[in-house]
Amino acid sequence: MTDHKFTTTTAGAPVASDEHSRTVGPDGPVLLHDVYLLEKLAQFNRERVPERVVHAKGGGAFGVLKITEDISRYTRAALFQPGVETDLLIRFSSVAGELGSPDTWRDVRGFALKFYTTEGNYDIVGNNTPVFFIRDGIKFPDFIRSQKRLPHTHLRDADMQWDFWTLSPESAHQVTYLMGDRGLPYSWRHLNGYGSHTYQWINAAGERFWVKYHFHNRQGERNITGNEAEKIAGIDSDYYLRDLHEAIARGDYPGWRVSVQIMPYEDAKTYRFNPFDLTKIWPHADYPLIPVGEFVLNRNPENYFAQIEQAAFEPSNLVPGVDVSPDKMLLARVFSYADAHRYRIGANYNELPVNRPKAPVHSYAKDGHLRHTFAEAGHPVYAPNSLGGPQADPARAAEGPGWQADGALVRAAYTLRRDDDDFGQAGALVRDVFTAEQRDRLVDTLVGQYNALTRDPVKERFLWYWASIDPATGERIRARVLTRQEPAPEPGPALVSAPAGA
Ligand code: HEM
Repeated sequence: MTDHKFTTTTAGAPVASDEHSRTVGPDGPVLLHDVYLLEKLAQFNRERVPERVVHAKGGGAFGVLKITEDISRYTRAALFQPGVETDLLIRFSSVAGELGSPDTWRDVRGFALKFYTTEGNYDIVGNNTPVFFIRDGIKFPDFIRSQKRLPHTHLRDADMQWDFWTLSPESAHQVTYLMGDRGLPYSWRHLNGYGSHTYQWINAAGERFWVKYHFHNRQGERNITGNEAEKIAGIDSDYYLRDLHEAIARGDYPGWRVSVQIMPYEDAKTYRFNPFDLTKIWPHADYPLIPVGEFVLNRNPENYFAQIEQAAFEPSNLVPGVDVSPDKMLLARVFSYADAHRYRIGANYNELPVNRPKAPVHSYAKDGHLRHTFAEAGHPVYAPNSLGGPQADPARAAEGPGWQADGALVRAAYTLRRDDDDFGQAGALVRDVFTAEQRDRLVDTLVGQYNALTRDPVKERFLWYWASIDPATGERIRARVLTRQEPAPEPGPALVSAPAGA
């Protein structure tokens, strides 16, 4: 600290005291024209912005993506060309808990990436799981409410969570991930990330491919047990946040390998299940991983609020060479995030340094709350114009329609294909991917979850749900809960592992 800096008001004028309000005599009343006191209290009242409606608790860092392979035959996006390095911001998060909730509550973890590319910001807003609980965005608010709090008690509630999940069997695959080891990561550095959705890539010749992103951490996937998670939650609710900050501060930069699965455009029409259904993975045997590059995180934020709390990730941030797909969830998200930012941060959220693109912005957007950038005098405010204003890029128009769609306007589930079902991939995860120890831990977790239920219809559906996912697992749970081998969990800390979110 230098010793010649005076405290000032936010308008820059030196203030007379950091400690004493202006009063009538040392013991007298405080005066309304103590403008510094008024400013200080008023500013303090406005320090918070609303927390994110989901994924409120999180932390992040800056880093660099480097493309080490030549995948230009699949996409013309500048950031994916061989040798290109692109600055990025990542934010990890839990889904259901509020801003101060413990990092180690069982939950899916958010894995949101913002790439500051030469063609504008590209955001991949994914999770540490490759699938999701629902397949139509119209159910998202219901799903999230079932994972948050009861309106009358303001408590989280296992009956509500399992009521929704068991009435929405498309959740089975993601719930299996969540109740397995992946629901309790060792740290943010030790989890893998997934774009989860099917996106579209377009190459320089205008050819289109369907693509899924995978981010495998170099630190090795590592998880903790339910007991460890509960203990850590009581000791250090910011366990992951601290771990990431300290690792980067000591120069131990975490890294992820980036790879993709590519599906030829025409395959999607005849593939054995709907490749746009977010509750499904594409088996690697059908579409193997193709290496792309790697990223490292090498810089901590200097200010949490300015750079992490105000960071605005949105699946609608797309660049030339990348597009969305007919995934109904993705299409709902294309609306939802920018809308959330306008509410939570303000209409001009993209002007904030953390969100501002590194590519030049030539937008006709103007004015609005807290606007502070503006075009030079004489710049037209409308298009088309004959004043030399910016014009749309014909190359983007030439990319043509993303896919062909025609039909009556309906409200219906995806058309079923041969291998479309709710339980098949969840069962394969339990039987073919989980080890015997992982299956044992899954059953332990589920017995604990069952014991937190109070409503009989939910309990019955819970047993049906797990028997439908994997008959052997279902039978093990039934045997243990019906013979009451486990005592009901203690109220309080035992509930820590019960709530689970998106
Ligand atoms: C955050 C909506 C599905 C990952 C959010 C936010 C909203 C939202 C409104 C808060 C944004 C903010 O205030 O900054 C939705 C809707 C969905 C959906 C409507 C379904 C239709 C998903 C899926 C994933 C996902 C499928 C992952 C594959 C995330 C992540 C964040 C987030 C990682 C936190 C971003 C950050 O770190 O700022 N979501 N979401 N969401 N969502 Fe979703």
